[in-house]
Amino acid sequence: MRQTTDTVWYRMRMTRDRQGLALNSMDANASTAAAIELRGLVKVYGQGSTAVRALQGVDLTVAPGEFLAIMGPSGSGKSTLLHLIGALEQASSGEISVAGMRFAGLGEKELTRLRRDHLGFVFQFFNLLPSLTALENVYLPALIAGRRGEELQRRAMELLGRVGLAERAQHLPSELSGGEQQRVSIARSLMLQPKLLLADEPTGNLDSHAGGEVLDLLRAVNREEDKTIVMVTHDPAAAARTDRIIFMRDGRFAGQTPGGSTKAVLEFFADGHIAAQAQAHTGTSRAA
Ligand SMILES: Nc1ncnc2c1ncn2[C@@H]1O[C@H](COP(=O)(O)OP(=O)(O)OP(=O)(O)O)[C@@H](O)[C@H]1O
Ligand SMILES: [Mg+2]
Repeated sequence: MRQTTDTVWYRMRMTRDRQGLALNSMDANASTAAAIELRGLVKVYGQGSTAVRALQGVDLTVAPGEFLAIMGPSGSGKSTLLHLIGALEQASSGEISVAGMRFAGLGEKELTRLRRDHLGFVFQFFNLLPSLTALENVYLPALIAGRRGEELQRRAMELLGRVGLAERAQHLPSELSGGEQQRVSIARSLMLQPKLLLADEPTGNLDSHAGGEVLDLLRAVNREEDKTIVMVTHDPAAAARTDRIIFMRDGRFAGQTPGGSTKAVLEFFADGHIAAQAQAHTGTSRAA
């Protein structure tokens, strides 16, 4: 890829931000790229008569800073899509790029580094370690990455403050409500300053009040810290809080609509509408 002034500046900045961690060509041109680019993505689980075609050719472009929701019936491939974007599983065929980095040809080491440096994950069941305090859970990604020090500890504490839990730093997950645990897990996902957050039903295990707080937080993180967010959700009201909603059915893209209106999301579930939109998919749109 051609080296522009922007690219060189970006690489220098990233090098400084990561406290001297080495970069390689994976980062080239990352400053100008789409946040996510999927082309012809196919995922087949198993073989022969028991094979499950979880994704059957998905194309998608997500703009930097976009907050995108993925909806669709159970089994339509939403989590599979998120796992592939998050380099947690390998595609059967098709192309994936995140921040301009193509996954094809990357080894396990590089994929691990990509997950660590570029992606934050938020799960339905929080996945906090029960024997660690809230603060230690937030700090954990730094420890796993072999990074420690006062500055990082300060950052973990700041993040807890950011999610409104500074006073609960020394509490164990079992001493926190579901909504609080999810806010800890969002703080944890931000620890290593990823540009992209992947959230699989982050409000799926919360009541509507706690879910609303988690959505407020994700929205604030998206707007104020310029994070791109892809969120799987079954909740039309949650989806309506995002910039754009895409619908999946049977492992395929089945339509999209801008966020902003719960009513519009509900209307999209009408069969005819989704079918009519299925051909019309292109990629990038950053709705207001
Ligand atoms: N590891 C696996 N092995 C075999 N089949 C799988 C595996 N993971 C997912 N599948 C299948 O792939 C299809 C898509 O699954 P996926 O988990 O992506 O659906 P989903 O849209 O996230 O559903 P839900 O809303 O229930 O979470 C389903 O038919 C599922 O049974
Ligand atoms: Mg799922």
